[in-house]
Amino acid sequence: MLILGIESSCDETAAAVVEDGRIIRSNQVASQAAEHNLYGGVVPEIASRRHIEAISTVVQAALDEAGVTVQDLGAVAVTFAPGLIGGLLVGVNFAKGLAFAADKPLVPVHHLRGHIAALYLTHPDLEPPFLCLVASGGHSHIIQVEDYTRFHVLGRTVDDAAGEAFDKVSRTLGLGYPGGPAVAKAALGGNPSAYRLPTPKLAGRYDVSFSGLKTAVLNLVNQAKMRGEEINVPDMAASFQFRVTEILAEKLMLAARETGAKKVCIAGGVAANLVLRDLLERDCAEIGASLYLPRLSLCGDNAAMIGSAGYYEYRAGARAGADLNGLATLPIDDPDLDPKSC
Ligand code: KG4
Ligand code: ZN
Repeated sequence: MLILGIESSCDETAAAVVEDGRIIRSNQVASQAAEHNLYGGVVPEIASRRHIEAISTVVQAALDEAGVTVQDLGAVAVTFAPGLIGGLLVGVNFAKGLAFAADKPLVPVHHLRGHIAALYLTHPDLEPPFLCLVASGGHSHIIQVEDYTRFHVLGRTVDDAAGEAFDKVSRTLGLGYPGGPAVAKAALGGNPSAYRLPTPKLAGRYDVSFSGLKTAVLNLVNQAKMRGEEINVPDMAASFQFRVTEILAEKLMLAARETGAKKVCIAGGVAANLVLRDLLERDCAEIGASLYLPRLSLCGDNAAMIGSAGYYEYRAGARAGADLNGLATLPIDDPDLDPKSC
């Protein structure tokens, strides 16, 4: 079954055709990152406007690349939550018009469920249950993926998301947006133990926090400025990157040990981080768990992951009607996402 996935929750306008949840027939992404970089981060108003300009072309390009027409599709799947509301509304409304004009089912997809589905596109044999860290610009969750459409959140960030911390520190260090790749690049020539950065103490066993770390970097940069000294940017980038990835890896491995997980996965934009990948390769080998990493090109926002998640949601019975709306926030395990109540 062919599913057209549509994604517009942040600053990527994306469309893709996916077969049976596992095979990418096409994958088109129009990124606005260069424009947002001028402002040091995503400007929601600009993002909405760029989505509405790009979406028709991007969807047509995805159909053309796959060599199919709308009539060949089994369903249209769209990210409807969570994300920037102006962007979500563009994708949702476009998907609605297309699905109803072509008389195809419309499937609502949760963005984080989409990030997890990137793993199904990378590993043809991977099936739930597994333990998954989802770390993006807006979320950092440790999740038990019980089934394709059943999720249990074990822990989450109590303040900033990991990607958000990378973006803010990148801005503080003058490295630009998006921060993750910029900090990772700057860190290549740096010493990860040059600056001593704090580790958060938290009540929730599997929770994480990055706001203290971000503030510590900001304070060190400001103190250096006041003393007329220079911060060593590669050293700071490397120290920050090391501490963030260490926190994420420690919490994920604690959850893996305590739940007896045999399969450990990561997903979301931050899953592209090579230091995090290396740490987890080592840690998973130590406890005898198998580590599944998403293909680098599928870590960031894309619509192939929405086409994949949409397939499993469709199979579970999820359907949206003409009244589908976008939602800026919605937990991944919200009861409203249960297909029986859609
Ligand atoms: O999943 P994603 O593309 O969009 C959201 O759903 O938010 O994640 C984007 C986030 C950004 O904060 C970006 O800085 C971060 O992922 N990111 C990275 C890397 N590549 C992207 N963070 C750390 N290391 C990377 N290599
Ligand atoms: Zn995302």
